[in-house]
Amino acid sequence: MTSVSSDTVLEVEHLSVSFPTSRGTSTVVDDSSFTVEAGRTVGIVGESGSGKSMTSLAIMGLLPGGGRAVGSAKLKGKELLGLSDRAMRPIRGDRMAMVFQDPLSSLNPFYTVGLQIAEAYRSHRKVSKQAAKKIVIAALDRVGIPDPERRYNHYPDQFSGGMRQRIMIAMAICLEPELLICDEPTTALDVTVQAQILGLLSGLQKENGMGMVFITHDLAVVSEVADEVLVMRHGVTRERGTTEEIFTQPKDSYTRALLDALPRITDDPDAVMKETGEEHRS
Ligand SMILES: Nc1ncnc2c1ncn2[C@@H]1O[C@H](COP(=O)(O)OP(=O)(O)OP(=O)(O)O)[C@@H](O)[C@H]1O
Ligand SMILES: [Mg+2]
Repeated sequence: MTSVSSDTVLEVEHLSVSFPTSRGTSTVVDDSSFTVEAGRTVGIVGESGSGKSMTSLAIMGLLPGGGRAVGSAKLKGKELLGLSDRAMRPIRGDRMAMVFQDPLSSLNPFYTVGLQIAEAYRSHRKVSKQAAKKIVIAALDRVGIPDPERRYNHYPDQFSGGMRQRIMIAMAICLEPELLICDEPTTALDVTVQAQILGLLSGLQKENGMGMVFITHDLAVVSEVADEVLVMRHGVTRERGTTEEIFTQPKDSYTRALLDALPRITDDPDAVMKETGEEHRS
């Protein structure tokens, strides 16, 4: 049983996601349950195809065609599953937002980033264009975009990958969502930029107290950001626990295999160098 407190932002219970196939129904998320508290982060890890993204897309009401979600996902007590598009629109992007791996897929190359964030903002709040612009510049500043007034007028391809991800985070946090879902937000970035983005997210979370779901295939990343971890494989939650429990007393054989695959810090400085080098290369 999951315990629900007044600080519970997201409560997922018995969530299953399935798709029709020519050979019957394929279940890609199988009976998943977890809760996200305000100011806390739940990490979801697992190999490719384990159902991490489908879990978050079901919560956001963004499953691809044919996908069906059953069970329950409540945002501050409000059931999200089964909501019509119309009912979902005021919630998505406003009370809950998502950051994806590839910012370019979410940004229109033909509009300046400032205008795109301002329009997204104005679709939820009745403010003038001028007021929205001010808010957006403040958000760009907050996520560490240098010279935000000037950068407001730049197009997505004028930014590096790390800066584009900051822009996506600015768009996501502009409306101060209660829940932020990050789906592999740092996977395409090199390790230094990855560390900066992780630091940025945790700083914003401390300021806002938003609940976060952080999806990654990288256990090292999850150990840095998550308070609790869900280990998924083939749609099934293999193990769930605090980050400390998962890393120090993994119960499931699959979790142990994932942990064994992690580069290990040893007393031998040469070994550490080698392993760090490998991480940099990937
Ligand atoms: N449109 C679709 N129709 C049917 N099945 C799909 C569809 N999209 C994805 N799937 C299947 O759903 C399963 C879970 O996919 P999901 O994208 O959630 O995996 P993931 O854990 O996010 O993987 P990755 O780490 O590669 O992003 C996969 O087996 C995938 O093949
Ligand atoms: Mg995915």
